[in-house]
Amino acid sequence: MIMKYLLVSLFLLTSCGGPFSKDTTELNFVNKSKKVIEDQQALKIKREAEKRLFDQQKIQMWNEINLEAKNSFMVIKPLFDNKCMNCHDSNFKLPLYGRLFGKINPVKKHQDDGLKVLDYSEGFPFKALGNPPQVALLKSIRSAFIERTMPLKSFTSVYPKKKINSTDEQLLLNWIDPIIKKFEVYENKFNTVDASIPSKAQRILELRCFRCHANGNAKGGFGNMENTTALLKGKYFDADNFEKSELFQSINSGEMPPSRLEALSDEEINYVRSWLEIESKKVN
Ligand code: HEC
Ligand code: HEC
Repeated sequence: MIMKYLLVSLFLLTSCGGPFSKDTTELNFVNKSKKVIEDQQALKIKREAEKRLFDQQKIQMWNEINLEAKNSFMVIKPLFDNKCMNCHDSNFKLPLYGRLFGKINPVKKHQDDGLKVLDYSEGFPFKALGNPPQVALLKSIRSAFIERTMPLKSFTSVYPKKKINSTDEQLLLNWIDPIIKKFEVYENKFNTVDASIPSKAQRILELRCFRCHANGNAKGGFGNMENTTALLKGKYFDADNFEKSELFQSINSGEMPPSRLEALSDEEINYVRSWLEIESKKVN
């Protein structure tokens, strides 16, 4: 009788794994999944904290650069008031001869066109049609000083004293170069981390082309670059031969942007090339 009982219990223990071991397996399983969930939650909280810190640092650096640029621009503003005001300050009231006959008056036209691309009347950040990134505007001012493309020749031929000289250039560079550098550090640190090729390439175009070809600007009749779908369907992009298309050729040949000082680096050109290649494969 005792033997029988022992045998039966032995049978039960071995065959079913026993009632106790079954319970612990279940318990282990529950504990394990609890741990997985806890780990996942901890990781999520950690990621969120990191993201918050990243966003905070991003805003802080952005504010710092902008405040610095705003304050330091006031030091250089007299130079702008002397040589650029007539066409780039919306508070500047044209003299009577500039207001007569409205739009057909060339002085009025210069002011209208000048204000579209740069209006520094409210200091930094500058205003411009389509709100291009400030760093793009800073770079355009930098090249205008170095290449002496501004003030307009038609203006300096009447007012030769308004020409840019090397002292002006040095003053401008002392102000603008450190600011541009900081915007670029910001860009690399906060705007392009982990970015895919398409978003990096599009950001390059935004920084380098949009102020003349997007958001209401259409130099040479080419606008709307901000609409990527339209850009890729438009006449400047050819999916069958993207390297020969004008969009790519204009950059690769150095023809665009027009100022040599703003030319894209090889690395930037390669990003655009890789992106256009991806896009052309999507179509074909
Ligand atoms: C007599 C008027 C006049 C004066 C003075 C003048 N500009 Fe301009 N500026 C213009 C006009 C007009 C344009 C737009 C040209 C165009 O759309 O092609 C322009 C364009 C620009 C641009 C954009 C160029 C580009 O690459 O898109 C910059 C930057 C600029 N001016 C800076 C200056 C600075 C800095 C000064 C002073 C040193 C100055 N300008 C003085 C009329 C003027
Ligand atoms: C400072 C203003 C300015 C910037 C910045 C600029 N462009 Fe242009 N772009 C022009 C002007 C002006 C024309 C018209 C030139 C002409 O007809 O000779 C033009 C024309 C073009 C054309 C048409 C060419 C044609 O023959 O029809 C393409 C394509 C182009 N740009 C691409 C770009 C790209 C890509 C970028 C950025 C990497 C860029 N541009 C940046 C001013 C600019």
